[in-house]
Amino acid sequence: MNNFAFYNPTKIIFGKGQIKQLDKQIPKNAKVLITYGGGSVIKNGVMDAVKKELAKSDRAVFEFGGIEPNPKFETLMKAVLTVRGNNIDFLLAVGGGSVMDGTKFIAVASVSDEYFGKEEELLYLGFAGAQTEKILPLGTVATLPATGSEMNNGAVVTKGTDKLPFFHKEAYPQFSILDPEYTFSLPATQVANGVIDSFVHTVEQYVTYPAEGRFQDRTAEGILQTLVEIGKKTVDNPNDYDARANLVWCSTMALNGLIGSGVPQDWSVHMIGHELTALHGIDHAKTLAIVLPAMWKERKTQKKEKLIQYGERVFGIKTGTDDERVDSAIAKTEEFFHSLGVGTKLSDYGVGEKDIEPILENLKKHKMTALSEHGDVDLNVSEQVLRKAL
Ligand code: NZQ
Ligand code: ZN
Repeated sequence: MNNFAFYNPTKIIFGKGQIKQLDKQIPKNAKVLITYGGGSVIKNGVMDAVKKELAKSDRAVFEFGGIEPNPKFETLMKAVLTVRGNNIDFLLAVGGGSVMDGTKFIAVASVSDEYFGKEEELLYLGFAGAQTEKILPLGTVATLPATGSEMNNGAVVTKGTDKLPFFHKEAYPQFSILDPEYTFSLPATQVANGVIDSFVHTVEQYVTYPAEGRFQDRTAEGILQTLVEIGKKTVDNPNDYDARANLVWCSTMALNGLIGSGVPQDWSVHMIGHELTALHGIDHAKTLAIVLPAMWKERKTQKKEKLIQYGERVFGIKTGTDDERVDSAIAKTEEFFHSLGVGTKLSDYGVGEKDIEPILENLKKHKMTALSEHGDVDLNVSEQVLRKAL
């Protein structure tokens, strides 16, 4: 096992009716900006519940809506001006990964005096220049189980066709309220996205090479088995509380730093996936469903031992030659994604051979030329992966 430091300060407040804890989490005299997306939280009543709780103390409450899926730099910069113009001192993200990520950007960019007016630079530097600064405190009321943003310090922001991940040491939410019932209103396709995003976060930290991270492996396998058990059930039965509660907790635990501590990580599927979203607008999780099976087919040799372990412990594949077991593990994964109604080929989303070159150009532009746990996914490998995904 590798050396590591594990730090995660986010308080999780989980379960039915837990919005009642909100008032206690935010200073009574705070100037709060509620950030949200395109209005789902207004339609499903979550916003009303949030405002009712905030009104229990004498706070000034402002709102900023319209944060789009794959949040845009320009939109977030409008929120930065709202924050600066009103001396906001607490941000409350109410929504999915895009709203939570966008709010992290707002939290950093609003206080970056040194970078004020130069936020674009900040974005392209991955916030490297702002790591020492305190940022605005933020909390979340999460409504889409997928990204893990509710309990991590990462975010992804888009400017034009640049979809850029960043991390900030202070960007962990102070608290996140996770009420599975708040996710009942999600369309089936977004629930399927959530299952797949959580699944792929887990395998990007697990299907690498053996590293004696036995706890990490078994925890990852527990998350994957749970997602296989409840994935289709929670897509088909949106009001099944327990199935949904398991999805919510799995997605949070899949990307809060726990299972990735002390073990190799990959992330090549995510980085290629980000370019597919940036250039073709495909939902984040769907890009992962396309790239993951192709990546594993292309890198069977490098991942052989872990693919065999994964096949056996997650899908019960115990017989056959090593190669057969690897192939079955990949086939089972594709079958699982299909069972959720998600296509795993570029052609399912109208992307063809002529589109490969621009994807590779974007990877090059973003310096994504030595990806994976070994740094061996260069542009040639990425090209082969995309061809296998056609
Ligand atoms: O905008 P609204 O109206 O709220 O509607 C949203 C949006 O249309 C809707 N939605 C959310 N909660 C709902 C709901 N509809 C009905 N009922 C509810 N309870 O769902 C749609 C998608 O929302 P979005 O937030 O975009 O989805 P998701 O949570 O999948 O987030 C995707 C973003 O997160 C990034 C992705 O790249 C993408 O930009 N990621 C962030 C990560 C992180 N912070 O660690 C890691 C991930 O790998 C990922 O890259
Ligand atoms: Zn993801």
